[in-house]
Amino acid sequence: MELCCMDQLKSQPIWLLLLLGLGSVSVFKCSLAILRWVYINFFRPAKNLKKYGSWALVTGPTDGIGKGFAFQLARKGLNLVLVGRNPDKLTEVSESIRAKYGQTQIKTVVVDFSGDLSEGIKRIHEAIEGLDVGVLINNVGVSYPYARFFHEVDEKLLADLIKINVEGTTKVTQAVLPGMLERKKGAIVNIGSGAAIVIPSDPLYAVYAATKAYIDQFSRCLYVEYKKSGIDVQCQVPLYVATKMASIKRSSFFVPVDRWLCSGCNGLDRPMIPVVHLTGPILFFGACCSWCLSLLLMLGVCGSALQFGRRDNSRTPENKNRQQFLSLPLCASFFV
Ligand SMILES: NC(=O)c1ccc[n+]([C@@H]2O[C@H](COP(=O)([O-])OP(=O)(O)OC[C@H]3O[C@@H](n4cnc5c(N)ncnc54)[C@H](OP(=O)(O)O)[C@@H]3O)[C@@H](O)[C@H]2O)c1
Repeated sequence: MELCCMDQLKSQPIWLLLLLGLGSVSVFKCSLAILRWVYINFFRPAKNLKKYGSWALVTGPTDGIGKGFAFQLARKGLNLVLVGRNPDKLTEVSESIRAKYGQTQIKTVVVDFSGDLSEGIKRIHEAIEGLDVGVLINNVGVSYPYARFFHEVDEKLLADLIKINVEGTTKVTQAVLPGMLERKKGAIVNIGSGAAIVIPSDPLYAVYAATKAYIDQFSRCLYVEYKKSGIDVQCQVPLYVATKMASIKRSSFFVPVDRWLCSGCNGLDRPMIPVVHLTGPILFFGACCSWCLSLLLMLGVCGSALQFGRRDNSRTPENKNRQQFLSLPLCASFFV
């Protein structure tokens, strides 16, 4: 069998062998990336986040994903600076965290990210003065209340999306980063969205998806800029999560609850991580199926073309072998 393969390989033209080589390298790379993703998300032991510092700052901690993060970070033994717009909700969340994790120290800062941002950032500066904030969770974000065309997006919504999602994240990072640089350690987790990274476009949520694309690229650049300074930067990319923003009340097989997201911190040495939940693998599986279908289609077309071009001698065993063998490099080259 091996000999037969070798013989067949030797009889192929050089360009086909090159294509096969290229395709194989590409398939190998792809498989490695998938294995790595599975390892980071499912098998790697949890990171000790306290090694970054004893405090974590979370924006938008009064609901949804941010609240889930605050509880998970307290569970991991970190003290918290909670930055939100509603003082009552901040007090409520702080009390429930203290009730569950008595040892957690909590500071709250009232900032409305759609309001006077400079004033808000000043308050954050004052609150973190002297604290070793090792983990920053840039979670605050808004989306459209309902799907709409771009020309229907009113001025207030447009301003809020850019101010809260883009400016808020950028300025909070700028406020916290100098301390991390001084201590030469830190972790910045920015909450992006599958709307910008996983799916090819997100029509009727154009500005939201575009703001999240900013978060993705911002995170990738900071990851490279600060890697050598001991600061890990990561963009977590959730798909649907059962929160008020997604208007999904109950979690399900496909839609996880907010607290799952903290598990993404396991991959803090990677710039971007699709957060573990089932929608990711299922979308991935869907994409694989469509690749396979396109591949079959392409092979069918190529096969027919070859058959057509060699009608006279297509039934000779040699040519049959050649045609069968051709499918390999064509298949591999599809992945390049
Ligand atoms: N849910 C999803 O399916 C999903 C998917 C992908 C990405 N994400 C991203 O995940 C992040 C959190 O989303 P979520 O689903 O947890 O949303 P959420 O349940 O609506 O919670 C948003 C949090 O941000 C706060 N917030 C909103 N506007 C604010 C403002 N102007 N100033 C200060 N705080 C403000 C909210 O405060 P209040 O409690 O006072 O309202 C709340 O604490 C966002 O960046 C979002 O884009 C979510």
